[in-house]
Amino acid sequence: MTTIQAHGGELINLYQPTYDYTSLTKEIEVDNMALSDLELIGIGAYSPITGFLGEKDYQSVVENMRLADGTVWSIPITLPVTEEQAKELNIGDKVKLVQNGVTYGVLEVSEVYTPNKEKEAENVYRTAELAHPGVKKMMERPNVYVAGPIVLVERTPKTRFEKYYLDPTETRAAFEERGWKTVVGFQTRNPVHRAHEYIQKTALEIVDGLFLNPLVGETKSDDIPADIRMESYEVLLENYYPSDRVALAVFPAAMRYAGPREAIFHAMVRKNFGCTHFIVGRDHAGVGDYYGTYDAQKIFSNFTADELGITPLFFEHSFYCKKCEAMASTKTCPHSKEDHMILSGTKVREMLRNGEVPPSTFSRKEVIEVLIKGLAKQKVSSK
Ligand code: ADX
Repeated sequence: MTTIQAHGGELINLYQPTYDYTSLTKEIEVDNMALSDLELIGIGAYSPITGFLGEKDYQSVVENMRLADGTVWSIPITLPVTEEQAKELNIGDKVKLVQNGVTYGVLEVSEVYTPNKEKEAENVYRTAELAHPGVKKMMERPNVYVAGPIVLVERTPKTRFEKYYLDPTETRAAFEERGWKTVVGFQTRNPVHRAHEYIQKTALEIVDGLFLNPLVGETKSDDIPADIRMESYEVLLENYYPSDRVALAVFPAAMRYAGPREAIFHAMVRKNFGCTHFIVGRDHAGVGDYYGTYDAQKIFSNFTADELGITPLFFEHSFYCKKCEAMASTKTCPHSKEDHMILSGTKVREMLRNGEVPPSTFSRKEVIEVLIKGLAKQKVSSK
């Protein structure tokens, strides 16, 4: 059985643990976002990308959602450095990429350039407002971008939920071993609530397997911490999903909150992990009111099925209907708004923070228990 082709045709592998970097003297201290990008490039999750983007690719991504060679790519993967650091760098230099004294990678400098961040914000995030967490993060990072191919020499420590870190080669092997020909990927940065469960299971009715792939990289501070979420996914799967139909692994990227653009990026990456289908529901990867409810679905029409190479599955805003006594959406339920429990991760978070227990029509009781316990522990430890 052959699994789905990686984006761009070939699954990249730039992990070289024996690479000798001891003679290199220059180094760049990378932030968490750059470190997660480095590792994801190295393990092929960002195939066909082999390094931090040069100016031609960067501009093409910002303007056209494509790399310079035309391949679909919607989020710029960049390595920002300060002007002082940039002055120290020469084209051709091999530079260690370091965090807290550990060398994780080596970059061969091919370009150093100053981006137009306003334009990046307007095009990628559809706003330049600093109230947008993705824009704020991008603006706070240093102002010069360094580009070049990378080698990954050291994996980041997997101290939390180690068994859920799987590389694309491993997820592909796991899907194959289970005999799944079609796999639907699901991105989330929230504990799974009933609407998530509904769209996942609806998708699962038409494919062989579900790949639950929660993002555990950097998120904004009011999102539920990843370790609490992981525990909530475990109890949910244990109690409500057939184990031979679901695979759970983490997606260690940072969240950009870039809505539509990030939906394309999320889909391409899940293709690299071996998914044939990808779920895009309501306001995917959105934040606040920056994006229209279905903008993250509409954006897919800019590309042909061949260019995408993974089939997006679009879902309407879903909810629990008291009259139907079931989960539904306006496509499947004739009743009025008054009968609908409108669910969202944001709403569940708010209730939990206010000490309210969300009803089981919102979230499964086992999930709620984990969240309440986890958040209480967090409160105690942050006092
Ligand atoms: S995010 O990473 O996309 O921000 P989130 O957990 O909010 O994570 O959503 C995960 C996926 O579920 C996204 O595809 C989103 O569009 C979809 N989704 C979330 N809530 C609903 C809902 N009530 N109805 C339909 N789709 C939803």
